[in-house]
Amino acid sequence: MGKTALSERVAGILLAGGSGTRMRPLTKDRNKHLLPVGMRPMIDYALGTLLGAGLSDILVVTGRSHMGQVVDVLGSGRDYGDGVAFTYRVQDEARGIADALALARDFSAGRRLCVLLADNVFDCDRLRPAIEAFAASEEAYALNFLAEVEDARAYGVARLEGDRVVEILEKPDEPPSNLAVTGLYCYPIDAFDKVDQLDPSARGELEISDLNNAYAREGRLQHERVAGWFDAGEPEPWMRTQRYVQEHPTRFGDDRFRLRP
Ligand code: DAU
Repeated sequence: MGKTALSERVAGILLAGGSGTRMRPLTKDRNKHLLPVGMRPMIDYALGTLLGAGLSDILVVTGRSHMGQVVDVLGSGRDYGDGVAFTYRVQDEARGIADALALARDFSAGRRLCVLLADNVFDCDRLRPAIEAFAASEEAYALNFLAEVEDARAYGVARLEGDRVVEILEKPDEPPSNLAVTGLYCYPIDAFDKVDQLDPSARGELEISDLNNAYAREGRLQHERVAGWFDAGEPEPWMRTQRYVQEHPTRFGDDRFRLRP
């Protein structure tokens, strides 16, 4: 695909750390994002999402015990096409999604950020135009992608006033809406300063929802509604994602954005 123009302005960041405890015993000896979904490793779908959105310069963050496996599978980026480049950083401990994002500061080199969790699988055509608009905007806003779900309690959940997201609640017992915050996020460069101000949550992590809330408080959090979103990071949703991929093989058929055999 060659290095893309979008990559000059937006750094792609793929987060594949975490401890994978909810997927044990499958994750005892491997990174969760290398588990299969259909005939591809889970992480390959997320990479396809970033590449399909036009991002060719991608930082992959993962934990220390699994970095070797991830590099083995993904390589330099060359296998995905000319101009595709992967850079790797180790997150020593799984201290949260925002903590992993903080490792991208040098890599971003002043560019805006497009962050994706490596256990998210998208079948959605609306991502690229939204990311392009975010990149082109003179306004430096943060962007969340919201998907309607039946039970939002397992996710970050958006509370809206009118059409504006005013707050994200992380895994609430009583969700204020059925709109889950997906694991795709766009940020301006001041995201790093905001992460520096975050305190760890009750579970000891720097929460991405707290970063999103920092933008919501400033009236700088925009959102896009999407369909066709799967969080494959837990046993039942993982199996549901597998079924969807098997039933819709042509939806994931673009050979340009997938690992070659
Ligand atoms: O998938 C969407 C959801 O992802 C959002 O709705 C939630 O607001 C957000 O907190 C997150 O929730 P999860 O419970 O799914 O997060 P989890 O701890 O499973 O981490 C998701 C991915 O983030 C994981 O597959 C790899 C990456 N990660 C996570 C942690 C905790 C890291 O790279 N480093 C980390 O330390």
